[in-house]
Amino acid sequence: MTEASQVSDAKGSTKAPGSALVEVRDLAKVFDVSAPWLNRVVERKPRQFVHAVDGVSFTIEKGRTLALVGESGCGKSTVARLLVGLYTPTQGEVRFDGEDIAATLKGPKALALRRRMQMIFQDPYASLNPRWKVQDIVAEPLREHGLVRDADGLKRRVGELLQSVGLSPADAEKFPHQFSGGQRQRISIARALATEPEFLVCDEPTSALDVSVQAQVLNIMKDLQRKQGLTYLFISHNLAVVRHVADQVGVMYLGRLVEQADKRSLFATPRHPYTRMLLDAIPDIHMSGRSRTPVQGEVPNPLNPPSGCSFHPRCPHANARCGAERPKLLEIKGVRVACHAVEEGRI
Ligand SMILES: Nc1ncnc2c1ncn2[C@@H]1O[C@H](COP(=O)(O)OP(=O)(O)OP(=O)(O)O)[C@@H](O)[C@H]1O
Ligand code: SF4
Ligand SMILES: [Mg+2]
Repeated sequence: MTEASQVSDAKGSTKAPGSALVEVRDLAKVFDVSAPWLNRVVERKPRQFVHAVDGVSFTIEKGRTLALVGESGCGKSTVARLLVGLYTPTQGEVRFDGEDIAATLKGPKALALRRRMQMIFQDPYASLNPRWKVQDIVAEPLREHGLVRDADGLKRRVGELLQSVGLSPADAEKFPHQFSGGQRQRISIARALATEPEFLVCDEPTSALDVSVQAQVLNIMKDLQRKQGLTYLFISHNLAVVRHVADQVGVMYLGRLVEQADKRSLFATPRHPYTRMLLDAIPDIHMSGRSRTPVQGEVPNPLNPPSGCSFHPRCPHANARCGAERPKLLEIKGVRVACHAVEEGRI
């Protein structure tokens, strides 16, 4: 992963024409979480909606990693699922290599598009069929996409894929329970790589692993990116992990992107008060002796989000404007940030 990154402008368009692989524009997903009709009538309850993702725009350059961070429930996994077409957007669009994915996935080019993007989930146990041998697990996408048809070819290709993630071709004959958590996640990665995708969406891929194993899996992912030019959307609540893998970092709060910046600038000079709060809470990696503050307060109920800036009940810089007017995501000194205080130069 290269350190140099480009910052998108506030509308999500890129400054280097032609190099954006993934373009997300004004993306929104609303879930209807209303009680069943009869209960609503009897208990006189209104219908209820969660705005899980609420007008998010960004681009990911080919061969780069955008990491999304934020506390639980801020909409990271919903973005991930929208990006690979597991959810249809309520509003906005996701373009992959220039094509609208929701439309493409309904048409004749759906299989070809699905081949180009894959998702890796948090729990390698849940995503691997325990009754299948590794050979069958990794070969399934090869069969589904008709990439390799004969038994010898499948065996050879599965062996190569296992080697590419640091496992042995002989592991193909084993079952998932015979592996450690980190090895199981490598099997998931080998399976995801089977179709030679260009884009991998990784939703907390190492969160279930021990710290030392996390580092091994992350290094494998970085190596694969270097060798195969992969583009990643990487979701993690762990800022130390993000610091290791990301080129760009997007910070989400209650369904919205509140800051997006080059990794270095985000860690060195976080702009948004929420980003500052998240960074203040992580252990001091440089042992500078700077005091650390735990994250203050709680994420509000998404069914009834605060008015104006949804962060205002927790923000030390909030004023009357913050409670009344939602800040727009603006590009300020090369960083995209949604905060009145930053815009006004108050902080
Ligand atoms: N299928 C669904 N139906 C209803 N509500 C949902 C659904 N999926 C997510 N939500 C709600 O949308 C919001 C965002 O959820 P999401 O899972 O995207 O957050 P997250 O950032 O991935 O959280 P975590 O860090 O806990 O994984 C939450 O309020 C969640 O309850
Ligand atoms: S807009 Fe206001 S409340 Fe929101 S983060 Fe900025 S200063 Fe805080
Ligand atoms: Mg999630």
